[in-house]
Amino acid sequence: MTDDAPDTAADTAPDPSVVAATDALVAVPGVDPDKARAALVDVPREPGAPKPDPILVADGVVRRFGGLTAVDVDHVEIQRGVITALIGPNGAGKTTFFNLLTNFDTADSGRRTFDGQPIDEVPAHKIANYGMVRTFQLTKALSKMSVIDNMKLGATQQKGETLWRSLLPFIWKGQEADIEARAEALLDRFNMTHMRDEFAGTLSGGQRKLLEMARALMVEPTMVMLDEPMAGVNPALTQSLLQHVTGLRDQGMTVLFVEHDMDMVQEISDWVIVMAEGAIIAEGPPQSIGENQAVVDAYLGGSHGAPLDLDRKL
Ligand SMILES: Nc1ncnc2c1ncn2[C@@H]1O[C@H](COP(=O)(O)OP(=O)(O)O)[C@@H](O)[C@H]1O
Ligand SMILES: [Mg+2]
Repeated sequence: MTDDAPDTAADTAPDPSVVAATDALVAVPGVDPDKARAALVDVPREPGAPKPDPILVADGVVRRFGGLTAVDVDHVEIQRGVITALIGPNGAGKTTFFNLLTNFDTADSGRRTFDGQPIDEVPAHKIANYGMVRTFQLTKALSKMSVIDNMKLGATQQKGETLWRSLLPFIWKGQEADIEARAEALLDRFNMTHMRDEFAGTLSGGQRKLLEMARALMVEPTMVMLDEPMAGVNPALTQSLLQHVTGLRDQGMTVLFVEHDMDMVQEISDWVIVMAEGAIIAEGPPQSIGENQAVVDAYLGGSHGAPLDLDRKL
């Protein structure tokens, strides 16, 4: 993202409203985040470990590019109501696996279920109807739209409601008012109300990430998928972003994120899944991952892998 504006002084201001705004939000029904996290204690620390309450399950997922097997995941389960980090050296297959999970890429083989329902045949734009949503980078086209219009688009784009709009204009009008109110409430939660009518392209790197997250929430998801939420973010805004991510979990959402930043992984994840050469090689709580020999080998062995900071909080 070379066209990012630098993070401004406004980003560095303390953000006391984050927690309060999160508290005001409606919880996802039937999810107790504290119980969900506590239940991880008994989960074996091994690849493919079964979870007490999995929301997303993948089996035998393989993706090849020519002769290269980018992903070959035997089995994985994502626990509902917790924050799971997907980590691994560069080229491990994290982004490819993430795209397969959200149906933005098609696996050569394998099955996935979300909330017990098979999602293999569900088109990417309909996945949000199941409650699973991913963030999208602010593209050039979206940069030329206002922040509030980006938010409103978040509601329609992923839910495919354009048909309703054409067939039922009167119902749609009511919905549009709802959508606008929802967008404004989310902008308030993310402290972006003052940017409401600005072009999204004028936002700083950190504010873009906030907008991407806020836009994803327009569809009222139960699971949020984030691909490198900290990439390009000024460290001054990091704490605020972290609070927003933990806020999603505390509201009962399931969070899965791909991340290089080990500080973030250690600080906010409840469970870590490690990929190397397309496969899952380790799982466990963040504190245990650095002690895992397979993980150490994978990071040290990768010729272009980012170093894993094994000393952190271990
Ligand atoms: N569209 C593609 N065409 C060919 N090879 C790809 C493509 N996407 C990814 N790869 C290869 O698949 C492997 C996994 O890539 P990726 O999923 O991006 O890894 P990570 O996100 O863990 O860094 C890499 O070797 C990468 O070069
Ligand atoms: Mg990647």
